[in-house]
Amino acid sequence: MEATKETPAFLELREVSKTYMPTKTQRIQAVERVSFRVGRGEFVTLIGPSGCGKSTTLRMIAGFLKPTSGDILLDGVSITSLGPDQRNIPMVFQNYALFPHLNVFENIAYGLKARNLSADAIAHDVAMMCQMLNLVGIETRFPDELSDGQQQRVSLARALVLKPKILLFDEPLSNLDARLRIQTRAEIKRMQQILKITVLYVTHDQMEALSIPDRVLVMHKGRVVQQGRPREIYNDPKTPFVADFIGNANFYDAYVVSVQADFVQVSLHDREFNIPLSHCDHLPTKDEIVLLSIHPITITLGDAVAQLAENQSRATVEQCLFNGQSFEYTTTFGDTTIRVLHPNLQGSALEYAVGESVVLTFHPQTFHIYSIKG
Ligand SMILES: Nc1ncnc2c1ncn2[C@@H]1O[C@H](COP(=O)(O)OP(=O)(O)OP(=O)(O)O)[C@@H](O)[C@H]1O
Ligand SMILES: [Mg+2]
Repeated sequence: MEATKETPAFLELREVSKTYMPTKTQRIQAVERVSFRVGRGEFVTLIGPSGCGKSTTLRMIAGFLKPTSGDILLDGVSITSLGPDQRNIPMVFQNYALFPHLNVFENIAYGLKARNLSADAIAHDVAMMCQMLNLVGIETRFPDELSDGQQQRVSLARALVLKPKILLFDEPLSNLDARLRIQTRAEIKRMQQILKITVLYVTHDQMEALSIPDRVLVMHKGRVVQQGRPREIYNDPKTPFVADFIGNANFYDAYVVSVQADFVQVSLHDREFNIPLSHCDHLPTKDEIVLLSIHPITITLGDAVAQLAENQSRATVEQCLFNGQSFEYTTTFGDTTIRVLHPNLQGSALEYAVGESVVLTFHPQTFHIYSIKG
């Protein structure tokens, strides 16, 4: 459940920063005053480009790194000064980090042995994990005798068998091929729901970040720049960075024609669009040049017509890329290039050739406006 003012956070980061100082003169501000809350049993993804501070954040939560400043709380109690052994917050990594000299059973049992459980109790817990994660029959194999997917499931079993309070994942599926990624992702989500554990999951894959969690945190240059449910993040990006990174948006400099009570009228090429004020990151003024963001998925592409309706433009197809699920068209109208993502609907005859004239239908209620200075 999401942590709100009413429901206490299970994990909470308060103004956490980390500065690396690899040499006396070098300072790398990897994480800067990051604050967020994760509710008990919630699945949260942390997404951002390479080097934005995701792994550093996870390592501080697991206890492998000490924050330069700030506080980390688990269930309301500060854990900032505790070592990793005292936290019971395991991490599952991209490279699985299995012990090569131990077989599947021994790898999964490793953490339990350290807890001095009886041999029977260990065998029982490991068997249950093997059952849940489809590892039955390969318990005596060594890591180098397993497929990538099996290794990743062993690594997951090894973490889950410890019944952790919270589980951290650092890009766990990057080594797997596309099909296996989808399967393993679904498996992780299923396990999380059955075992009701709290998960913080790092990825730089947009699809992954949006499809599995209850909530998404977007990181950029060491800071959390937006957090919310996947749909909010996708449909209502608060900054051009989020619109670009999550939605792969088209961006234009647009001219403000007028500002009304609840919408702004902007001009782009030869068209004027009414955009809700709630989609502006500031109150624009008449004659201002603003940054206009349009998601490719919100534009509809259709056959050329004699008479254009409201919010329509003529355009020419420059390129068409097909990936099975959708057509990605690059089109031009006037000197403006615009990318359009069109779903490959069953039975749809929609396919336009390069050079063909088409009509774009815009939905300005989905557009966003940002300050050009910001
Ligand atoms: N041990 C270290 N010493 C010095 N700088 C480091 C160290 N670890 C990470 N950094 C730097 O801190 C910044 C954040 O690194 P981090 O590993 O947290 O990024 P990330 O978001 O996990 O990136 P990726 O997606 O590539 O894994 C980067 O600029 C990185 O070069
Ligand atoms: Mg990383």
